Amino acid sequence: MTEDAFDVIVVGSCMTDLVSQAPRLPKEGETIHGHNFFTGFGGKGANQCIQAARLGAKTAMVAKVGKDFFGDNYIQNFKDNGVHTDFVGQTTDAATGVASIIVNNAGENAIVIVAGTNMLLSRKELQEARPAISCAKVLVCQLEISPQTSLQALRMAQENKVKTIFNPAPAIPDLDPEFYRASDVFCCNESEAELMTGSSVNTVEEACRAGQELLRRGCGTVIITLGAQGCVVLDAQDSSCKHVPATAVTAVDTTGAGDSFIGALAFYMAHYPTMQLEEAARRAGQVAGVSVQAMGTQTSFPHKKDLAAELF
Ligand code: RIB
Repeated sequence: MTEDAFDVIVVGSCMTDLVSQAPRLPKEGETIHGHNFFTGFGGKGANQCIQAARLGAKTAMVAKVGKDFFGDNYIQNFKDNGVHTDFVGQTTDAATGVASIIVNNAGENAIVIVAGTNMLLSRKELQEARPAISCAKVLVCQLEISPQTSLQALRMAQENKVKTIFNPAPAIPDLDPEFYRASDVFCCNESEAELMTGSSVNTVEEACRAGQELLRRGCGTVIITLGAQGCVVLDAQDSSCKHVPATAVTAVDTTGAGDSFIGALAFYMAHYPTMQLEEAARRAGQVAGVSVQAMGTQTSFPHKKDLAAELF
């Protein structure tokens, strides 16, 4: 490990979030009045990277944004959060990704992304980041960029004994089986687990069954997040299913809570490599629990100074 090694490298997406708050989510073909609109920094990859950075991880992002207003702003946002930006490229071949988000009064959301430049992140940029990837502590990937690029990044990390966290979001039913084998930690939410296993995931017991199925596909560890019910953690070594409950909070906006969880998990894995994954998941759940109590995505992600000392 060199002196300059990163704790956490994220190969993934950047989106500008266009958020409307409305009493409820509209039905198909329906127009409804909202009561507030704001823009913010989003994209699952960047969200996860920013959360890890805010907890104190030395982070780098591998991403592609547009040579446009949103892209310029995004790079500045990374710098403001202490994220290394040498591997964030800009191109005129597409526009920076955007996410149209509607948040209802219960804090639930519906999201449509137009990935734009995110889909242009390729093997070429990965090769440029290879020296940094190969000596990082943890690499994190999702599915808002080309799946091939995500898989190449996970493999590059594993070849160099870098721990991998894969978040298959947004989920696809026909995920390349290689993703399971390339994931030291395969972390998804209940709806993603449902889509990938074809079984319903509403209870802890159902999550455990889905987790066993995902383990059989070759991941080292599976975490399925269950919102207010916490998460389950399954390890290929002992194949037990551990339920990690969440602390009850009043949610005002759950957008990005899963990203806050994964960014925090990456931080704990990098900073406390001998910590049990169950304990890392418990602490990551506490961090994500803070994030749902404020509006917006990254705007709601806590910094180390905002959190209880026992989380560190
Ligand atoms: O997970 C939340 C994120 O999903 C939002 O920030 C939005 O950009 C979409 O990528």
